[in-house]
Amino acid sequence: MKAVVCARYGPPEVLRVEDLATPVPRKNEVRIRILATAVTSSDCYVRGLRLRPAYRLMARLALGWNAPRQPVLGMVLSGEVDAVGPDARSLDVGQPVFGFDRHRFGTYAQYVCWPEDGLLATRPANLTDEEAAAIPYGGLLALHFLRKADVQAGQRVLVYGASGAVGTSAVQLARHLGAEVAGVCSTANLDLVASLGATTVIDYTREDFTDRPERYDLVLDAVGKRKSAAGLRQCRRVLAPGGACISVDDGTPKLRRENLLLLGELATKGEIRPVIDRTYALDDIVDAHRYVDDGHKRGNVVIAVR
Ligand SMILES: NC(=O)c1ccc[n+]([C@@H]2O[C@H](COP(=O)([O-])OP(=O)(O)OC[C@H]3O[C@@H](n4cnc5c(N)ncnc54)[C@H](OP(=O)(O)O)[C@@H]3O)[C@@H](O)[C@H]2O)c1
Repeated sequence: MKAVVCARYGPPEVLRVEDLATPVPRKNEVRIRILATAVTSSDCYVRGLRLRPAYRLMARLALGWNAPRQPVLGMVLSGEVDAVGPDARSLDVGQPVFGFDRHRFGTYAQYVCWPEDGLLATRPANLTDEEAAAIPYGGLLALHFLRKADVQAGQRVLVYGASGAVGTSAVQLARHLGAEVAGVCSTANLDLVASLGATTVIDYTREDFTDRPERYDLVLDAVGKRKSAAGLRQCRRVLAPGGACISVDDGTPKLRRENLLLLGELATKGEIRPVIDRTYALDDIVDAHRYVDDGHKRGNVVIAVR
């Protein structure tokens, strides 16, 4: 099978398209023929080991010292079940699925084997594989943090960094939970963020949202502390009594299958929609990583795997 191999940590150019043996599903695994994946910001952190020094050591121990032990990166997929292991019962050959696995990697390839009880769900029938691949990463992370903050209907939520993968999902999911949403983004993304359901959009290049009179029950930093640190310095000023400010970088979220099922249902009903900035071919993975490395993608960068 065709796959992208990361033979050492480094810039996008360390990635190479190679031919690898097609994996065989064991025990309760299913093999998925991947039709689309996504280049997430996490993929770029792993590839470049672009982490804070304290985390870099832990990452080398966990992922591999000089190169990822699993050389095929990629955490997100959409495709169809192509073969099942001898003990796999819940998924059938031919079933369309989408999913996310941040430990196993392997989705920058034509095939991968994952356990049938992993973070996999039936792909919403109204979505293409490219669209489905744009749902799990931002959706699962955003849902985790909105739930952690116990967002209730009628509350006011401000999403800082509303135009990235997590941000575009957070705006839509906070709306789904019944919140009134304000989104902070740059000028070019104001229309996008409003179209996702934010009733107020604030351009961080022109205005500091903490100077405004509105008060929020939750300020969710969806862009990560390295980018948000300056913008959120005064964020306590805009909290309503009992309000909280949390970051997508606070802790390691538990990503639950039931939440993936929920995201699938919401996408099927049109209550959330995938936001795709660019789509690349697997052969153009280096260009895709360069683009995501720049840090300005709108929503998701998807890879069509053919
Ligand atoms: N806790 C965990 O386990 C975990 C797991 C995965 C990810 N994360 C965190 O989640 C973060 C977000 O991931 P993502 O994939 O959603 O990011 P992303 O899609 O790469 O974010 C890109 C977006 O951020 C916007 N942006 C850049 N600088 C900004 C700033 N100073 N203020 C506001 N917006 C800004 C960009 O728009 P403009 O350039 O136009 O502003 C762009 O639309 C990651 O960086 C990481 O820190 C945490």
